[in-house]
Amino acid sequence: MDSNPESGASIRPPLPPRVLFGQLKWQIYFTLNKMAYVIAKPSGEKYVLSYLPQDIILPKTKETIVLDWYRDSDFDELFSMMKEAVDEGQTYPQDTMDKDHFEKYYLSHDVFVARNPSDQRVMGSFYVKPNFPGRSSHICNAGFLVHRDFRNRGIGEVLFRKYLPIAKDLGYEGSFFNLVYATNHASIRLCRKLKFQEIGRVPKAGKMKGLGYVDALQFYYDLTTLKQDCLTFQDFD
Ligand SMILES: CC(C)(COP(=O)(O)OP(=O)(O)OC[C@H]1O[C@@H](n2cnc3c(N)ncnc32)[C@H](O)[C@@H]1OP(=O)(O)O)[C@@H](O)C(=O)NCCC(=O)NCCS
Repeated sequence: MDSNPESGASIRPPLPPRVLFGQLKWQIYFTLNKMAYVIAKPSGEKYVLSYLPQDIILPKTKETIVLDWYRDSDFDELFSMMKEAVDEGQTYPQDTMDKDHFEKYYLSHDVFVARNPSDQRVMGSFYVKPNFPGRSSHICNAGFLVHRDFRNRGIGEVLFRKYLPIAKDLGYEGSFFNLVYATNHASIRLCRKLKFQEIGRVPKAGKMKGLGYVDALQFYYDLTTLKQDCLTFQDFD
């Protein structure tokens, strides 16, 4: 494996997902009360996505953001964004979040960030990781975050759009969001706008802060239907 100084990721030739995931020795850790499982990824296993870092102009505001891999120096900013979202109690299922839990939950696999090009600060992010172990590990899951100060400018849409080809380039064949709370209007709007298939509804899936029981929607995207490595906005319009 060669080393890429830009991303810190190692280069390896693309492998069919079945071969790739068959080679990885996933470990499943059960936690008592926080999540069903965490699928740990052996260190050093990363693809190089040659199109990152990438400048993107937000259609809504004409601001430029940079889509990039997560770096260790982003940890504090990203953790505080996640902690804020958890404390808001409206979107993620966790009711508490400390640094250790965050590292295991959010940083276990591949993580991407949107940076402000002027000061490199993190404006948004998403992780990509297998939603299931073993025989279903070709189906991934993602967790999106946009800093409260930068919401409703189109950053979330850019992240959702870029997530799809990135996930495909990482070797996944499908994307599954298990738990999009029915009150998470921004996420639902983005899933529908980007034509994710709405495949399920879990009744009373969350006890949200100040709202009580809320249903959750489930969305699937067949990544094998994406034709290009990197989609433009026009591809969905
Ligand atoms: C979901 C999230 C990533 C979206 O980020 P964002 O940068 O604000 O998203 P955008 O600005 O690209 O777009 C949001 C879309 O939702 C719409 N929207 C936002 N709030 C809405 C509301 N209350 N009702 C209806 N639509 C809403 C916006 O109008 C926009 O749609 P449009 O482009 O058609 O106008 C962000 O809100 C977030 O970080 N939330 C907390 C964490 C979270 O929910 N993560 C996902 C877990 S499933």
